[in-house]
Amino acid sequence: MSVLRSYPDSVKALHENMQGLANDGRPARLITLCNASGMTATFMDLGATWLSCTLPMAEGAREVLLGVDTLAAFYQQAGYLGVTVGRFANRINNAQFSLHGKDYSISKNQGVHCLHGGVEGFNRRRWTLVEWSDRYVVYGLRSPDGDQGFPGQLDVTVRYELTQANGVEISYHGVCDQDCPVSLTNHAYFNLQGDTAEMDCRDHELLIDADAYLPIDASGVPISGCVPVVKSGFDFRVKKPIRQDFLKDEQQQLVGGYDHAYLLNQPSQRVNLVSSVNTPDQTVKMNVSTSMPSAQLYTGNFLDGCPRRGEGCYKNHAGFAFETQYLPDSPNHPEWTFSNSLLKANKAYHHKTLYEFVWHGLKAQ
Ligand code: BGC
Repeated sequence: MSVLRSYPDSVKALHENMQGLANDGRPARLITLCNASGMTATFMDLGATWLSCTLPMAEGAREVLLGVDTLAAFYQQAGYLGVTVGRFANRINNAQFSLHGKDYSISKNQGVHCLHGGVEGFNRRRWTLVEWSDRYVVYGLRSPDGDQGFPGQLDVTVRYELTQANGVEISYHGVCDQDCPVSLTNHAYFNLQGDTAEMDCRDHELLIDADAYLPIDASGVPISGCVPVVKSGFDFRVKKPIRQDFLKDEQQQLVGGYDHAYLLNQPSQRVNLVSSVNTPDQTVKMNVSTSMPSAQLYTGNFLDGCPRRGEGCYKNHAGFAFETQYLPDSPNHPEWTFSNSLLKANKAYHHKTLYEFVWHGLKAQ
């Protein structure tokens, strides 16, 4: 990469530490984008991963993404830090679904279930670097017919753009030559206070524009349809600290915190504001908008022991993920017409999610 000298030291170190050979015998390729305000975003072709995101704060560059900084740690971590998830984000019950009268058995990687696309999900692949500039980078992947048990050859691209308005916009495109359920997401974990050992994501204040969420069993598989958030700890329609109602509900106790899909209000093909998060001191705010009908709020309940950049490991709740997606197990719920994840043969898949950051020394709006 060129002009590395103008990047924060932590970003330069990341480029150095990630050197070495990946599992396919080739080096990983990293690209850092930097905008006029001095915000940076770094991406890698392995897993089409969002590796780092720094904000130029008064005290210096603040890293707001959880992540690793060596290839060994990238392969070791099971937390899906910053990776692109596919073909199907979240769980598919019993790793099976039926389509047009035919039963499909797909890859099992969480007990009997399929999680995040299976054993060799898109996060484990070397993506092709299709195109890049100082503003954006595009990665492409061909997933062959039968990949992890899914039907059809699926070609996808993921485009990351660092906007002048301090957003990271992620656009997904795809086309499959057979009908197939597809739900792509990015699994970034955020901590807007900075990625340091003592930070806990439950100190953030969070708003989610959703009247309903999806209850699950202890393995994360939906047990019913969506239910109202009202009078439960799942109600984030008015901004509150994540900690406020943490573990209050039986549903949370099952999985050690929030690890649930919200059915977002006003779903449409437009990108809508669905969530906004503040640091406790209100110096950084992140707004999320998406064209997807749902998003999984995951408070890092199983992060303990996950390798982190620098020395040591993450602790539970070091960061939270807000993974925009179709509702988990949608392929087995055709009655969820508001979450129709079936990509029809030769039709275009297109979704967008924008993570936009606001920071200053004063209170964020
Ligand atoms: C899941 C969690 C899981 C994490 C890492 C999240 O999307 O909902 O249960 O531990 O991904 O795999």
